[in-house]
Amino acid sequence: MAESRIPIRAFDLATASRRETTAVHALSTRLRAEAWPEDPPQALEDWERKLRTIPPYWTVGRWVAWRGEEAVAAASTYFYNTPHNRHIADADIGVLPEHRRRGIGKELLTRIVAAAEEEGKTLLIFGTDSALPVGRAFAERVGARPGMVSATNQLDLAHLDRALMARWRNDGPRDRFTLGWWIGPYPEEELEAICQLKDVMNTAPRDELQMEDWTWTPEMVRQGEAALAERRRERWTLYARHRPSGELAGFTEVFWDPAQKETLWQGDTGVLPKYRGRGLGKWLKATMIEKVLAERPCVVRVRTGNASSNAPMLAINHAMGFRLYKEWTIWQIEVAQARSYLAAG
Ligand SMILES: CC(C)(COP(=O)(O)OP(=O)(O)OC[C@H]1O[C@@H](n2cnc3c(N)ncnc32)[C@H](O)[C@@H]1OP(=O)(O)O)[C@@H](O)C(=O)NCCC(=O)NCCS
Repeated sequence: MAESRIPIRAFDLATASRRETTAVHALSTRLRAEAWPEDPPQALEDWERKLRTIPPYWTVGRWVAWRGEEAVAAASTYFYNTPHNRHIADADIGVLPEHRRRGIGKELLTRIVAAAEEEGKTLLIFGTDSALPVGRAFAERVGARPGMVSATNQLDLAHLDRALMARWRNDGPRDRFTLGWWIGPYPEEELEAICQLKDVMNTAPRDELQMEDWTWTPEMVRQGEAALAERRRERWTLYARHRPSGELAGFTEVFWDPAQKETLWQGDTGVLPKYRGRGLGKWLKATMIEKVLAERPCVVRVRTGNASSNAPMLAINHAMGFRLYKEWTIWQIEVAQARSYLAAG
Protein backbone atom coordinates (compact mmCIF):
# COMPACT_ATOMS: atom_id res chain seq x y z
CA MET A 1 0.00 0.00 0.00
CA ALA A 2 3.06 2.23 0.29
CA GLU A 3 2.64 3.41 -3.27
CA SER A 4 -1.02 4.34 -2.96
CA ARG A 5 -0.04 8.00 -2.47
CA ILE A 6 1.86 7.95 -5.73
CA PRO A 7 1.26 11.19 -7.70
CA ILE A 8 -1.50 10.87 -10.26
CA ARG A 9 -2.06 13.64 -12.77
CA ALA A 10 -4.45 14.15 -15.66
CA PHE A 11 -2.64 13.53 -18.94
CA ASP A 12 -3.35 15.57 -22.05
CA LEU A 13 -1.15 15.17 -25.09
CA ALA A 14 -1.80 18.79 -26.08
CA THR A 15 -0.20 20.19 -22.92
CA ALA A 16 2.19 17.40 -21.86
CA SER A 17 5.93 18.02 -22.12
CA ARG A 18 7.97 15.95 -24.56
CA ARG A 19 9.50 14.05 -21.65
CA GLU A 20 6.09 13.19 -20.19
CA THR A 21 4.77 12.07 -23.57
CA THR A 22 7.79 9.84 -24.13
CA ALA A 23 7.39 8.34 -20.65
CA VAL A 24 3.69 7.58 -21.20
CA HIS A 25 4.49 6.05 -24.58
CA ALA A 26 7.08 3.79 -22.91
CA LEU A 27 4.43 2.69 -20.38
CA SER A 28 1.93 1.99 -23.14
CA THR A 29 4.56 0.01 -25.08
CA ARG A 30 5.22 -2.27 -22.11
CA LEU A 31 1.54 -2.86 -21.35
CA ARG A 32 0.85 -3.57 -25.00
CA ALA A 33 3.74 -6.05 -25.26
CA GLU A 34 2.35 -7.92 -22.27
CA ALA A 35 -1.04 -8.32 -23.93
CA TRP A 36 0.18 -8.81 -27.53
CA PRO A 37 3.68 -10.33 -27.33
CA GLU A 38 3.73 -11.23 -31.02
CA ASP A 39 3.13 -7.69 -32.20
CA PRO A 40 5.81 -5.12 -32.99
CA PRO A 41 5.81 -2.02 -30.76
CA GLN A 42 3.90 1.03 -31.86
CA ALA A 43 6.17 3.90 -32.86
CA LEU A 44 5.86 7.07 -30.81
CA GLU A 45 4.38 9.05 -33.73
CA ASP A 46 1.73 6.38 -34.44
CA TRP A 47 0.77 6.19 -30.80
CA GLU A 48 0.52 9.99 -30.54
CA ARG A 49 -1.56 10.13 -33.69
CA LYS A 50 -3.95 7.57 -32.21
CA LEU A 51 -4.36 9.61 -29.03
CA ARG A 52 -4.84 12.83 -30.95
CA THR A 53 -7.50 11.57 -33.35
CA ILE A 54 -10.42 10.66 -31.13
CA PRO A 55 -13.69 11.13 -33.06
CA PRO A 56 -15.95 13.81 -31.50
CA TYR A 57 -18.56 11.19 -30.57
CA TRP A 58 -16.24 10.30 -27.67
CA THR A 59 -14.99 12.43 -24.79
CA VAL A 60 -11.80 11.01 -23.36
CA GLY A 61 -10.20 11.51 -19.96
CA ARG A 62 -6.69 10.25 -19.11
CA TRP A 63 -4.65 9.99 -15.93
CA VAL A 64 -1.08 8.83 -15.36
CA ALA A 65 0.62 7.69 -12.13
CA TRP A 66 4.25 8.77 -11.79
CA ARG A 67 7.26 7.52 -9.90
CA GLY A 68 9.68 10.34 -10.45
CA GLU A 69 9.88 10.74 -14.22
CA GLU A 70 8.69 7.22 -14.93
CA ALA A 71 5.05 6.70 -15.89
CA VAL A 72 4.06 3.51 -14.05
CA ALA A 73 0.30 3.30 -14.59
CA ALA A 74 -2.41 4.93 -16.67
CA ALA A 75 -6.16 5.06 -16.84
CA SER A 76 -8.66 6.41 -19.33
CA THR A 77 -12.39 6.93 -19.68
CA TYR A 78 -14.47 7.21 -22.81
CA PHE A 79 -17.88 8.88 -22.56
CA TYR A 80 -20.30 8.66 -25.47
CA ASN A 81 -21.46 11.93 -27.05
CA THR A 82 -24.14 10.01 -28.92
CA PRO A 83 -27.92 9.83 -28.58
CA HIS A 84 -27.45 6.35 -27.08
CA ASN A 85 -25.36 4.88 -24.27
CA ARG A 86 -24.93 8.14 -22.43
CA HIS A 87 -25.20 6.21 -19.16
CA ILE A 88 -21.88 4.43 -19.80
CA ALA A 89 -18.36 5.28 -18.68
CA ASP A 90 -16.02 3.02 -20.61
CA ALA A 91 -12.79 2.71 -18.63
CA ASP A 92 -9.33 1.21 -18.87
CA ILE A 93 -6.57 0.86 -16.27
CA GLY A 94 -3.06 -0.50 -16.79
CA VAL A 95 -0.36 -0.77 -14.12
CA LEU A 96 3.20 -1.97 -14.80
CA PRO A 97 3.68 -5.52 -13.42
CA GLU A 98 6.24 -4.50 -10.79
CA HIS A 99 3.85 -1.87 -9.39
CA ARG A 100 0.76 -4.07 -9.11
CA ARG A 101 -0.99 -4.99 -5.85
CA ARG A 102 0.01 -1.70 -4.21
CA GLY A 103 -3.24 0.20 -4.55
CA ILE A 104 -2.41 2.15 -7.73
CA GLY A 105 -5.19 0.53 -9.76
CA LYS A 106 -7.65 1.43 -7.03
CA GLU A 107 -6.37 5.00 -6.86
CA LEU A 108 -6.87 5.33 -10.63
CA LEU A 109 -10.35 3.83 -10.27
CA THR A 110 -11.10 6.66 -7.79
CA ARG A 111 -10.35 9.20 -10.57
CA ILE A 112 -12.51 7.31 -13.05
CA VAL A 113 -15.46 7.03 -10.66
CA ALA A 114 -15.24 10.74 -9.74
CA ALA A 115 -15.24 11.73 -13.43
CA ALA A 116 -18.16 9.39 -14.14
CA GLU A 117 -20.15 10.83 -11.22
CA GLU A 118 -19.45 14.37 -12.35
CA GLU A 119 -20.88 13.59 -15.79
CA GLY A 120 -23.88 11.70 -14.38
CA LYS A 121 -22.78 8.32 -15.76
CA THR A 122 -24.38 5.35 -14.02
CA LEU A 123 -22.61 2.29 -15.45
CA LEU A 124 -18.90 1.61 -15.55
CA ILE A 125 -17.64 -0.90 -18.10
CA PHE A 126 -14.10 -2.13 -18.73
CA GLY A 127 -12.43 -5.00 -20.54
CA THR A 128 -9.98 -7.63 -19.38
CA ASP A 129 -7.79 -9.92 -21.44
CA SER A 130 -7.59 -13.65 -20.68
CA ALA A 131 -3.83 -13.40 -21.29
CA LEU A 132 -3.65 -11.24 -18.14
CA PRO A 133 -5.58 -13.03 -15.37
CA VAL A 134 -4.77 -10.19 -12.94
CA GLY A 135 -7.46 -8.15 -14.72
CA ARG A 136 -10.16 -10.69 -13.81
CA ALA A 137 -8.97 -10.83 -10.17
CA PHE A 138 -9.19 -7.03 -9.95
CA ALA A 139 -12.62 -6.93 -11.61
CA GLU A 140 -14.00 -9.56 -9.24
CA ARG A 141 -12.53 -7.79 -6.21
CA VAL A 142 -14.13 -4.52 -7.26
CA GLY A 143 -17.48 -6.32 -7.55
CA ALA A 144 -18.00 -6.06 -11.32
CA ARG A 145 -20.01 -8.66 -13.28
CA PRO A 146 -19.12 -10.07 -16.70
CA GLY A 147 -21.38 -8.39 -19.29
CA MET A 148 -20.08 -10.09 -22.39
CA VAL A 149 -17.31 -12.51 -23.25
CA SER A 150 -15.90 -12.21 -26.71
CA ALA A 151 -13.48 -14.50 -28.50
CA THR A 152 -10.46 -12.96 -30.17
CA ASN A 153 -9.88 -15.38 -33.01
CA GLN A 154 -6.85 -15.44 -35.21
CA LEU A 155 -6.36 -16.90 -38.66
CA ASP A 156 -2.86 -17.81 -39.70
CA LEU A 157 -3.15 -17.28 -43.45
CA ALA A 158 -0.84 -20.24 -44.06
CA HIS A 159 -3.70 -22.37 -42.65
CA LEU A 160 -6.48 -20.79 -44.68
CA ASP A 161 -8.60 -23.43 -46.40
CA ARG A 162 -8.28 -22.00 -49.91
CA ALA A 163 -10.32 -24.75 -51.57
CA LEU A 164 -13.20 -23.97 -49.21
CA MET A 165 -12.88 -20.25 -49.99
CA ALA A 166 -13.13 -21.03 -53.72
CA ARG A 167 -16.31 -23.05 -53.04
CA TRP A 168 -17.88 -20.26 -50.98
CA ARG A 169 -17.17 -17.79 -53.78
CA ASN A 170 -18.48 -20.17 -56.38
CA ASP A 171 -21.66 -20.88 -54.40
CA GLY A 172 -22.43 -17.16 -53.80
CA PRO A 173 -26.09 -16.38 -54.61
CA ARG A 174 -25.21 -14.16 -57.60
CA ASP A 175 -28.58 -14.67 -59.27
CA ARG A 176 -30.23 -12.50 -56.56
CA PHE A 177 -27.30 -10.40 -55.25
CA THR A 178 -24.29 -8.46 -56.51
CA LEU A 179 -21.12 -7.61 -54.62
CA GLY A 180 -19.33 -4.26 -54.66
CA TRP A 181 -16.41 -2.50 -52.97
CA TRP A 182 -16.05 0.71 -51.01
CA ILE A 183 -12.35 1.33 -50.58
CA GLY A 184 -11.78 4.30 -48.28
CA PRO A 185 -14.67 6.66 -47.37
CA TYR A 186 -18.21 5.54 -48.12
CA PRO A 187 -19.93 7.21 -51.10
CA GLU A 188 -21.97 10.28 -50.10
CA GLU A 189 -25.07 9.24 -52.06
CA GLU A 190 -25.33 5.95 -50.15
CA LEU A 191 -24.49 7.26 -46.70
CA GLU A 192 -28.01 7.09 -45.21
CA ALA A 193 -28.48 3.55 -46.53
CA ILE A 194 -25.05 2.56 -45.22
CA CYS A 195 -25.96 3.82 -41.73
CA GLN A 196 -29.04 1.59 -41.82
CA LEU A 197 -26.96 -1.34 -43.02
CA LYS A 198 -24.40 -0.84 -40.26
CA ASP A 199 -27.21 -0.88 -37.69
CA VAL A 200 -27.57 -4.61 -38.45
CA MET A 201 -24.68 -5.07 -36.02
CA ASN A 202 -27.20 -4.39 -33.23
CA THR A 203 -28.58 -7.87 -33.94
CA ALA A 204 -25.24 -9.41 -32.86
CA PRO A 205 -25.43 -10.80 -29.30
CA ARG A 206 -24.44 -8.52 -26.43
CA ASP A 207 -25.17 -11.09 -23.72
CA GLU A 208 -25.79 -9.36 -20.37
CA LEU A 209 -24.06 -6.11 -21.31
CA GLN A 210 -26.29 -3.15 -20.37
CA MET A 211 -25.52 -1.37 -23.59
CA GLU A 212 -28.12 0.17 -25.88
CA ASP A 213 -28.21 -0.20 -29.65
CA TRP A 214 -25.55 1.79 -31.45
CA THR A 215 -27.20 3.96 -34.11
CA TRP A 216 -24.94 5.45 -36.74
CA THR A 217 -25.61 8.87 -38.24
CA PRO A 218 -23.90 10.14 -41.41
CA GLU A 219 -22.07 12.72 -39.28
CA MET A 220 -20.68 10.05 -36.93
CA VAL A 221 -19.61 7.87 -39.85
CA ARG A 222 -17.68 10.77 -41.38
CA GLN A 223 -16.10 11.62 -38.01
CA GLY A 224 -14.95 8.01 -37.67
CA GLU A 225 -13.56 8.05 -41.20
CA ALA A 226 -11.67 11.28 -40.56
CA ALA A 227 -10.03 9.69 -37.49
CA LEU A 228 -9.13 6.60 -39.52
CA ALA A 229 -7.54 8.72 -42.24
CA GLU A 230 -5.53 10.74 -39.74
CA ARG A 231 -4.36 7.49 -38.16
CA ARG A 232 -3.39 6.29 -41.66
CA ARG A 233 -5.51 3.18 -41.33
CA GLU A 234 -7.02 1.60 -44.39
CA ARG A 235 -10.57 0.28 -44.49
CA TRP A 236 -11.94 -1.98 -47.18
CA THR A 237 -15.66 -2.69 -47.25
CA LEU A 238 -17.34 -5.32 -49.40
CA TYR A 239 -21.12 -5.07 -49.66
CA ALA A 240 -23.88 -7.24 -51.09
CA ARG A 241 -26.87 -5.68 -52.83
CA HIS A 242 -30.20 -7.38 -53.42
CA ARG A 243 -30.72 -7.18 -57.18
CA PRO A 244 -34.54 -7.02 -57.30
CA SER A 245 -34.93 -4.23 -54.71
CA GLY A 246 -31.55 -2.52 -54.92
CA GLU A 247 -31.36 -2.77 -51.13
CA LEU A 248 -28.03 -3.19 -49.33
CA ALA A 249 -28.21 -6.70 -47.87
CA GLY A 250 -24.92 -7.22 -46.05
CA PHE A 251 -21.30 -6.20 -45.71
CA THR A 252 -17.93 -7.13 -44.32
CA GLU A 253 -15.02 -4.83 -43.59
CA VAL A 254 -11.35 -5.08 -42.70
CA PHE A 255 -8.86 -2.59 -41.26
CA TRP A 256 -5.16 -2.48 -41.97
CA ASP A 257 -2.39 -0.41 -40.45
CA PRO A 258 0.67 -0.15 -42.74
CA ALA A 259 2.80 0.30 -39.60
CA GLN A 260 1.64 -3.15 -38.36
CA LYS A 261 1.54 -4.64 -41.79
CA GLU A 262 1.49 -8.35 -40.92
CA THR A 263 -1.83 -8.18 -39.08
CA LEU A 264 -5.19 -7.43 -40.62
CA TRP A 265 -8.19 -6.77 -38.38
CA GLN A 266 -11.48 -8.17 -39.51
CA GLY A 267 -14.14 -5.65 -38.50
CA ASP A 268 -17.90 -6.01 -38.73
CA THR A 269 -19.66 -8.55 -40.90
CA GLY A 270 -23.44 -8.32 -41.02
CA VAL A 271 -26.28 -9.59 -43.18
CA LEU A 272 -29.83 -8.24 -42.74
CA PRO A 273 -32.00 -10.89 -41.01
CA LYS A 274 -34.28 -11.31 -44.04
CA TYR A 275 -31.32 -12.19 -46.29
CA ARG A 276 -29.66 -14.70 -43.96
CA GLY A 277 -29.26 -18.40 -44.70
CA ARG A 278 -28.33 -17.95 -48.39
CA GLY A 279 -24.55 -18.05 -48.17
CA LEU A 280 -24.05 -14.25 -48.28
CA GLY A 281 -21.81 -14.19 -45.18
CA LYS A 282 -19.51 -16.86 -46.62
CA TRP A 283 -19.47 -15.25 -50.07
CA LEU A 284 -18.54 -11.87 -48.57
CA LYS A 285 -15.80 -13.26 -46.32
CA ALA A 286 -14.27 -15.49 -49.00
CA THR A 287 -14.24 -12.65 -51.54
CA MET A 288 -12.63 -10.30 -49.03
CA ILE A 289 -9.88 -12.77 -48.13
CA GLU A 290 -9.15 -13.36 -51.82
CA LYS A 291 -8.48 -9.63 -52.27
CA VAL A 292 -6.30 -9.56 -49.16
CA LEU A 293 -4.18 -12.47 -50.43
CA ALA A 294 -3.82 -10.86 -53.85
CA GLU A 295 -3.17 -7.26 -52.82
CA ARG A 296 -1.65 -7.44 -49.32
CA PRO A 297 0.82 -10.34 -49.51
CA CYS A 298 2.58 -8.94 -46.40
CA VAL A 299 -0.43 -9.89 -44.23
CA VAL A 300 0.27 -13.14 -42.37
CA ARG A 301 -2.61 -13.19 -39.89
CA VAL A 302 -6.16 -11.93 -39.54
CA ARG A 303 -7.71 -11.17 -36.16
CA THR A 304 -11.30 -10.72 -35.21
CA GLY A 305 -13.47 -10.43 -32.12
CA ASN A 306 -16.95 -11.90 -31.75
CA ALA A 307 -19.22 -12.55 -28.79
CA SER A 308 -18.53 -16.14 -27.77
CA SER A 309 -22.29 -16.66 -28.05
CA ASN A 310 -22.36 -15.61 -31.73
CA ALA A 311 -22.63 -19.13 -33.17
CA PRO A 312 -23.30 -18.23 -36.85
CA MET A 313 -20.28 -15.91 -37.12
CA LEU A 314 -18.01 -18.25 -35.18
CA ALA A 315 -19.04 -21.17 -37.42
CA ILE A 316 -17.94 -19.23 -40.54
CA ASN A 317 -14.71 -18.14 -38.88
CA HIS A 318 -13.83 -21.63 -37.64
CA ALA A 319 -14.46 -23.13 -41.06
CA MET A 320 -12.05 -20.56 -42.56
CA GLY A 321 -9.34 -21.64 -40.10
CA PHE A 322 -9.69 -18.97 -37.38
CA ARG A 323 -8.70 -20.36 -33.99
CA LEU A 324 -9.23 -19.01 -30.50
CA TYR A 325 -6.33 -16.75 -29.59
CA LYS A 326 -7.67 -15.36 -26.33
CA GLU A 327 -10.81 -13.99 -24.75
CA TRP A 328 -11.89 -10.49 -23.94
CA THR A 329 -14.42 -10.01 -21.13
CA ILE A 330 -16.35 -6.78 -20.78
CA TRP A 331 -17.22 -6.21 -17.13
CA GLN A 332 -19.89 -3.91 -15.81
CA ILE A 333 -20.60 -2.34 -12.46
CA GLU A 334 -22.92 0.49 -11.41
CA VAL A 335 -20.93 3.65 -10.71
CA ALA A 336 -22.62 3.83 -7.28
CA GLN A 337 -21.47 0.30 -6.49
CA ALA A 338 -17.89 1.11 -7.53
CA ARG A 339 -18.10 4.14 -5.23
CA SER A 340 -19.23 1.86 -2.35
CA TYR A 341 -16.27 -0.46 -3.01
CA LEU A 342 -13.87 2.50 -2.87
CA ALA A 343 -15.52 3.91 0.26
CA ALA A 344 -15.31 0.56 2.04
CA GLY A 345 -11.55 0.41 1.39
C1 LIG B 1 -5.95 -4.85 -13.08
C2 LIG B 1 -4.84 -3.88 -12.63
C3 LIG B 1 -5.13 -2.52 -13.28
C4 LIG B 1 -4.93 -3.74 -11.08
O1 LIG B 1 -3.99 -2.77 -10.65
P1 LIG B 1 -3.32 -2.84 -9.21
O2 LIG B 1 -2.63 -1.57 -8.98
O3 LIG B 1 -2.53 -4.09 -9.06
O4 LIG B 1 -4.62 -2.94 -8.26
P2 LIG B 1 -4.70 -2.54 -6.71
O5 LIG B 1 -3.44 -2.86 -6.03
O6 LIG B 1 -5.19 -1.15 -6.57
O7 LIG B 1 -5.82 -3.54 -6.23
C5 LIG B 1 -7.21 -3.19 -6.08
C6 LIG B 1 -7.90 -4.37 -5.44
O8 LIG B 1 -7.87 -5.49 -6.35
C7 LIG B 1 -7.23 -6.60 -5.74
N1 LIG B 1 -6.37 -7.25 -6.73
C8 LIG B 1 -5.62 -6.65 -7.68
N2 LIG B 1 -4.93 -7.58 -8.36
C9 LIG B 1 -5.25 -8.77 -7.82
C10 LIG B 1 -4.84 -10.11 -8.08
N3 LIG B 1 -3.95 -10.37 -9.05
N4 LIG B 1 -5.36 -11.09 -7.33
C11 LIG B 1 -6.26 -10.83 -6.34
N5 LIG B 1 -6.69 -9.57 -6.06
C12 LIG B 1 -6.18 -8.57 -6.79
C13 LIG B 1 -6.35 -5.99 -4.66
O9 LIG B 1 -6.09 -6.90 -3.63
C14 LIG B 1 -7.19 -4.82 -4.17
O10 LIG B 1 -8.17 -5.29 -3.26
P3 LIG B 1 -8.64 -4.44 -1.96
O11 LIG B 1 -9.91 -3.79 -2.35
O12 LIG B 1 -8.82 -5.45 -0.91
O13 LIG B 1 -7.58 -3.43 -1.64
C15 LIG B 1 -3.44 -4.41 -12.99
O14 LIG B 1 -3.31 -5.74 -12.56
C16 LIG B 1 -3.16 -4.38 -14.48
O15 LIG B 1 -2.62 -3.42 -15.01
N6 LIG B 1 -3.53 -5.46 -15.22
C17 LIG B 1 -3.37 -5.49 -16.67
C18 LIG B 1 -4.38 -4.58 -17.35
C19 LIG B 1 -5.80 -4.99 -17.03
O16 LIG B 1 -6.18 -6.14 -17.01
N7 LIG B 1 -6.67 -3.99 -16.84
C20 LIG B 1 -8.06 -4.31 -16.61
C21 LIG B 1 -8.67 -3.41 -15.62
S1 LIG B 1 -9.36 -2.02 -16.47
